[in-house]
Amino acid sequence: VPTVEWTGDGVRLIDQTKLPDEETYVTCRSAATVAKAIRNMVVRGAPAIGATAAYGAVLALRERDPEAALAAIRASRPTARDLFWAVDRVTAASDPLEEAHAIARESVDACRRIGHLGAALLKRRPRVITICNTGALATVDYGTALGIVRAAHETGLEPSVLVLETRPRAQGARLTTWELARFGIPFRLLADGAAGRAFQEGLVDVAIAGADRIAANGDTANKVGTYPLALLAREHGVPFYIAAPVSTVDLATPDGAAIVIEERPEAEVTTFAPPGTRAWNPAFDVTPAALITAIITELGVLKPDNLASLRPAMAR
Ligand code: MRU
Repeated sequence: VPTVEWTGDGVRLIDQTKLPDEETYVTCRSAATVAKAIRNMVVRGAPAIGATAAYGAVLALRERDPEAALAAIRASRPTARDLFWAVDRVTAASDPLEEAHAIARESVDACRRIGHLGAALLKRRPRVITICNTGALATVDYGTALGIVRAAHETGLEPSVLVLETRPRAQGARLTTWELARFGIPFRLLADGAAGRAFQEGLVDVAIAGADRIAANGDTANKVGTYPLALLAREHGVPFYIAAPVSTVDLATPDGAAIVIEERPEAEVTTFAPPGTRAWNPAFDVTPAALITAIITELGVLKPDNLASLRPAMAR
C-alpha cells in the first residue's frame, strides 16, 4: 500500500483517518489541500509528513502566490522536523519535482537501512514494546521502529510486539495492528496504562519508538506517552531505542526544551467524557537523552550524546 505517491498532478495519500475500517485514498492537487491533509492527519508520521510536504511544496511553487502556499504547508503541524526539512530542500532545488522524488526514494532507503541496523541489535524472539505507528504508513514505505521489527521478522528472528494503543488518536490500535497483521508478525494490543504492568510481568525485552524531532543533545520528541515508556524501560533495565532517519535530527535545536510541542483539539481526548469536559492534548512529549540507549539512524547506531558526528554527512 503506497502511503504517499505522486500522480502527475498531485499527491495521493491513503486516508489514515479511515483505517482500519476503510482503505480509501485522497488526492491533493493544491498546497492548501496538502496542508489540510497533514493538519487533519490523513497523513501522519514524520517521514510520511516530510514526503507529502515535499510534493506539497512542488504544488505550492506552481501556484499564484507560492510564498503563501508554502507558509500554509509550514503551518500545518509544528513538531515533525521532516516537514520543514523537506520544504526547504524542494524550494532550494533547481528541479523541485525531482527533489521531491529524491526525498521519497531516500526515505525508503533510509528506513530499510534503519531496519537492518536495528534488527542486528536484537536477540532471537525479541519481545518488543512500541508506541504509535512507525511503520510503512508513517513513512513512504517500510517504517522506522516498526521497520526494525519487520527486518527482524524477515531475517527469521521471530519478533513479537506489544502495541500500545496510543490514545487519543489510537495510531497503535488502528494502524500498527493493521500493519503487523498484514505481515503475519505476532502482536498483542495494550491499553497505554498497561505498559507498566507489562514490564513488571517481564514481558518486554526491548522498547523501540520513532521520533518527530531529535535535538542536538539527543533529547527526542515523539508521540505523547514515549517519555513514560522510556522511564519504565530505565526502571526495569530494558534497552530503549529511538529509530529515525537523519532528516528527523535537528542540530539547530539545542535541546528538548526548544522543541515546539503541538497541542491538538480537546475533542480528541474527550470522546468518553461528559459534554463540556475540558481537556489538554499535547500530541508529543520529550524523552531526555539520558533515557535513550541509542538512536538508530540510516548512518549508524549513535549514542544520543554523539549526534554531532552526523554534521559532515548532513551538510552534504
Ligand atoms: O501524530 P503522529 O501520528 O504524526 O505522530 C507520529 C509519531 O509520533 C511517530 O512515532 C513519529 O512521527 C515517527 S514515524 C516513523
